[in-house]
Amino acid sequence: MDDLASIKERTEQLRAEINHHNYRYYVLDSPEISDAEYDELMRELKQLEEQHPQFLTSDSPTQRVGAAPVEAFGVVEHPLPLLSLGNTFSSQELRAWYTRTSKLAEGKHFNFAGEHKIDGLAVALTYVNGQLTTGATRGDGFRGENITQNLRTIRSIPLSVPKEAPARFEVRGEVFLPKAGFNKLNQERAEEGMPLFANPRNAAAGSVRQLDPRITVKRPLDIYIYMLGYAEGKATPPTHWETMEYLKSLGFKVNPNNRLLTSIEQVEEYHHTWVEKRGSLPYEADGIVVKVDSLDLQRQLGNIGHEPRWATAYKFPAIQGTTRLIDIGISVGRTGTLNPYAILEPVSVGGVTIKQAALHNEDDIRRKDIRIGDTVIVQRAGEVIPQVVGPVKSKRSGQEEIFTMPSHCPVCGAKVIRPKDEVMSYCTNAACPAQIQERLEHFVSRGGMDIRGIGESISATLLKEGLVKDVADLYDLHNKYDQLVKLGKMADKSVTNMFNAIEKSKDRPLSRVIFALGILHIGEEMAELLAKHFGSIDKLANASREELLSIPTVGPKLADSIAAFFRQEKNLAIIERLRKAGVCLEEEAVKPKELPLAGQEFVITGRLETFTRQEAEAQVKALGGSTGSSVTRKTTYLVVGAEPGSKLARAQELGTKLLTEEEFLRLLRQK
Ligand code: IVH
Repeated sequence: MDDLASIKERTEQLRAEINHHNYRYYVLDSPEISDAEYDELMRELKQLEEQHPQFLTSDSPTQRVGAAPVEAFGVVEHPLPLLSLGNTFSSQELRAWYTRTSKLAEGKHFNFAGEHKIDGLAVALTYVNGQLTTGATRGDGFRGENITQNLRTIRSIPLSVPKEAPARFEVRGEVFLPKAGFNKLNQERAEEGMPLFANPRNAAAGSVRQLDPRITVKRPLDIYIYMLGYAEGKATPPTHWETMEYLKSLGFKVNPNNRLLTSIEQVEEYHHTWVEKRGSLPYEADGIVVKVDSLDLQRQLGNIGHEPRWATAYKFPAIQGTTRLIDIGISVGRTGTLNPYAILEPVSVGGVTIKQAALHNEDDIRRKDIRIGDTVIVQRAGEVIPQVVGPVKSKRSGQEEIFTMPSHCPVCGAKVIRPKDEVMSYCTNAACPAQIQERLEHFVSRGGMDIRGIGESISATLLKEGLVKDVADLYDLHNKYDQLVKLGKMADKSVTNMFNAIEKSKDRPLSRVIFALGILHIGEEMAELLAKHFGSIDKLANASREELLSIPTVGPKLADSIAAFFRQEKNLAIIERLRKAGVCLEEEAVKPKELPLAGQEFVITGRLETFTRQEAEAQVKALGGSTGSSVTRKTTYLVVGAEPGSKLARAQELGTKLLTEEEFLRLLRQK
């Protein structure tokens, strides 16, 4: 079975099978096989493609990520402009839109499509001869950014479509981050002291506009396709509804909550239903979109300016309320961050009682001028944590108090510091009970060692009873079975399950271990990057500051935090105990020599037009090359910018290869 023809056949079969399961999982939300079986198919395909690169295709499911960071996004001209939508805010306004449209339709009856207006960002996807060739943002409607590499990481976007599809066509849709993913991302960012995304829309936009697709792939982005832009070489259906059904048959993900509606009363009902139920949606929607179903009638109605006459957004009322800010509480995070939150006079907003809301950080409170005792506007968006929008200044009595961060930790009383250039304040006592509990919870969390069965209350008990003092103690728990059962908190079976989960956690990949350790500023994405780069905890622990800084995306703040973590004896002792317990602390690293520029040294002279020297050097390093500050015999290339210095003469003397900026760029792009 190992002649080449049969291997080729097997790769094709695997690709078809994996594409089918991707579609079941990401588009239909209805998988047919387990994750393990899926991983096994992927593993086999990857291996065959590695051994026989001639059979690798660009639309292979193995090729969703892997591309190196793009240096900047190119511009895409939209063959047909991407329009925006007019808004209506009341039944009256909707009726007015309907009356206008009916008049233009000369009294003919017409149907509507009702859809959710998802708060994400519009993209246009172009397929040529069955392959996804371009993915672009809306931009100004006429020209958008080319974000193909990033969109390819979204599993619900097909990389290829069946042969029957039109030779060339464009679909449009909304890329979004579901609420759960948004909350998780923001929570991580808060813990890492990074600025928070204001809403899922910004988070989605920030994620697809990442220069590094390896970051995009970590964000659980999704898409719903909401229209066909154009199609060439094949007739397509005459109505919007049928077009959506047709696109579904080509493998595109279309929102199952869309409805075909036959009267304006039904449109109102559809809107009403979702005003009530919007909180239960896994994504953020700020209204419905009503579209005339007949495409002929759509063409007849046309546009005014950049808005179509054949569609309108009928917005949901904002879910806001006002209440009194009784106090500002502080919770202590795992890295010692003091996180302020609003304690509110309970208020019902859109049917849910809110008593607490997020306040992010001290600067944010000051910027919004929120004072204790203020009447504040609170806003809720489904499962997104309620936010304090701002104060109602006209309601001030003068008794309101300006908030200041406490100088001592509210849990353990230790001194609080706020490092220069940071927005967060920290409790300085690593033994602070609040920090220890948060660290333990972080260690066992899903993104970390994923030890099921140890939630908030069990970890609190383990700490209180002294059964666990740090994360390494988890791996000694099996000696304490009797004590655990005696606590009466867990049934025998739960204790056994917990032991099994702890045992299983020993085989987690290195990136998870690095993340689980809870090093300040190291989120899941960064942990993965470090694991790939260093390949073992020991190499990471021993890395010099320079070595850390040579990794693109590692700045001084991160480098210092990593160095500080591994300087502490206590942390090293925990790592030793994890090692003894059998926790896996290594993984196969991408060896520098496998990178395309490995072994090549670049020196730059003069001014570059496309990027700064630091950016150019970072790109060389990302591709495995090195950079130097002077030309020596070791130098492979001298990149010559505008107004070069003496390095040019030296290179000519040594016979070093010279590159113009353009040649240099071409070389980077080819790699
Ligand atoms: S139709 C001309 N359908 O809303 C029709 N748009 O203001 C325009 N949006 O940029 C698009 N959900 O990003 C349409 N089901 C939906 C939508 C939707 C969200 C966004 C889209 C567009 C904006 C229009």
